Amino acid sequence: MPDFQPRVFSGVQPTGNLHLGNYLGAITKFVELQRTHDCIYCVVDLHAITVAQDPRELRASIREVAAAFIAAGVDPTQHIVFNQSQVAEHAELAWVFNCVARMGWLSRMTQFKEKAGKDRENASVGLFAYPCLMAADILLYRATHVPVGEDQKQHLELARDVAQKFNLDFAESIAANGHGEAFFPLPEPLIQGVATRVMSLRDGTKKMSKSDPSDNSRINLSDDADTIAQKVRKAKTDPDALPSEVEGLGKRPEADNLVGIFAALNGQSKADVLKAFGGGNFSTFKSALVDLSVAKLVPIGTEMKRLTADPSHIDGVLANGAARAREIARVTMAAVKDIVGFVS
Ligand code: AMP
Ligand code: TRP
Repeated sequence: MPDFQPRVFSGVQPTGNLHLGNYLGAITKFVELQRTHDCIYCVVDLHAITVAQDPRELRASIREVAAAFIAAGVDPTQHIVFNQSQVAEHAELAWVFNCVARMGWLSRMTQFKEKAGKDRENASVGLFAYPCLMAADILLYRATHVPVGEDQKQHLELARDVAQKFNLDFAESIAANGHGEAFFPLPEPLIQGVATRVMSLRDGTKKMSKSDPSDNSRINLSDDADTIAQKVRKAKTDPDALPSEVEGLGKRPEADNLVGIFAALNGQSKADVLKAFGGGNFSTFKSALVDLSVAKLVPIGTEMKRLTADPSHIDGVLANGAARAREIARVTMAAVKDIVGFVS
């Protein structure tokens, strides 16, 4: 595999209720990676419509995700922030990848099975093909690193498989067109830290999710201080004191989750948190967790509100990002067309 220039790409769906899991699993990583890499962060609106969306809410959600990126510290002047549908090459490359990926690969995707549920016949074709679009998002920029939460691991593996199959199927043409041994890098998932899978506050065995019907299951980035405090106080726990060692969290999913959230928000390990709170009861720990969550999240929520109050400013940021993304996308797509054998 030749060396590819390091580049980070990631995406978040504009499907409402951005929450602490999105923030700790993805957005904080986006901010960190800016220091070391060229980064492209995308509001993946084409992904959102794989399930029904209300157009008005979709438009508001697109702006809200862009605002969350910026409020959390993503710098759209140094890096690229845009919404996917403004760069037509995403859909174009996804079509090529639909023809590279195999039905069998996509049939194994657990997220499709979960989202389609029992009524698979009635799921959209887009929901089934979604991982090919995700592979296109990443590979359109020949990105090498992809910060995501744990739930995206399987999709990232599929993106690597697509890249590898394209490189193999078209090896001769890739070389003949002057691209050497491989056209696409095999993108690496960056799934690191203590909060790669933040769990529901109501049930420590379920992922914190935008679509959970109980709002108490998650802390939304738009929640105010009182709401955050209430949700943390109501969070499910067990009757025992907190353990002093990480091993003691083993069969205690709710305790493990809250300790993980504290650790991630405070930039510590779980062991550090247990050093401070081990042996104590949950109410003391929860008070500290309320203070920490409010201190970290309320300023972001406030800044998001300020930004979304001026949609024309956000739209300008997205249009500027899209123009810069398009320049890279156009070059990749032109090369892909030559490699595949299209006439242009
Ligand atoms: P989505 O909201 O599905 O577009 O997810 C956006 C990003 O947040 C992806 O990188 C997900 O892996 C990540 N993410 C979503 N839910 C969680 C969670 N409960 N814990 C950690 N990361 C998450
Ligand atoms: N599928 C991701 C999710 O649901 C969102 C996404 C779309 C993405 N395209 C991507 C993430 C490309 C990383 C890279 O969370």
